[in-house]
Amino acid sequence: MSQTERLPRKRTYLMCPPEHFTVDYAINPWMDTSVPVDSGLALKQWAILRDTLTDLGHAVHVIDAKPELPDMVYAANGAFSVDGIVYGARFRYPQRAGEAAEHRKFYETATKWPATQGQSVNEGEGDFAYLPAAYGGMILAGHGFRTEPAAHLEAQEILGRPVISLQLVDPAFYHLDTALAALDDRHITYYPEAFSEASQRVLRQLFPDAVIADRVDAEAFGLNLVSDGRHVILNTEARAMGEKVRAHGYEPVHVELGELKRGGGSVKCVVAELRQ
Ligand code: ARG
Repeated sequence: MSQTERLPRKRTYLMCPPEHFTVDYAINPWMDTSVPVDSGLALKQWAILRDTLTDLGHAVHVIDAKPELPDMVYAANGAFSVDGIVYGARFRYPQRAGEAAEHRKFYETATKWPATQGQSVNEGEGDFAYLPAAYGGMILAGHGFRTEPAAHLEAQEILGRPVISLQLVDPAFYHLDTALAALDDRHITYYPEAFSEASQRVLRQLFPDAVIADRVDAEAFGLNLVSDGRHVILNTEARAMGEKVRAHGYEPVHVELGELKRGGGSVKCVVAELRQ
């Protein structure tokens, strides 16, 4: 990757406050129902992340939290939008099913973008990433734990952009956004071992200049980052990952998000991008 100046692009994001965040059920290996969550701390950390994004010049919409949906703070899972078209989620587990309609309502009222709920199980941006300048606009999609491969075909038909299917193989990295991230419109970073051998080959072919992360980075949720093309927002634990992206010309911005890691998520999981 060249060391040219990395330019930020103004983004519009969607977040949901962790007002009702708890870990009362376990649907991924990070969730431990025996350790109580400090919801006040979660809320403080969340607010700092939101302010960090607005201070960088980005717009942040907020969707109301629902008491019966404790995982709703992970707003990335509610939908995936590209070119002002919304492919709505259909959650794998019943505990989160109600979140899909809340997100659809948001898009119908706030952005007025056409929103279609997927027929196939898919968890929105948790398993879909978009690179507007790679090969004319390409979607990367994960399957293996949450999103069904059939959802990849469905997303391609609804969004009209090529979808590359990637198989996730490590339950610790159960969503694509725990193992791979867009650093800008064309470049990605990923942790190869989270993917099948064949999917690693596909990634090497399409992105020979990717920033390669290791297991320590992935376990620190260092891949679960939000980037505006220059500023890479990632949690404080992921220091080594921050230095890796710095070496490639990006500017790491660390935020403390430890309380939300208890639910199995970090920066990217709690931020959905609205792409016009
Ligand atoms: N507890 C949530 C779940 O297991 C965490 C979701 C994390 N979100 C993400 N985009 N990776 O569904």
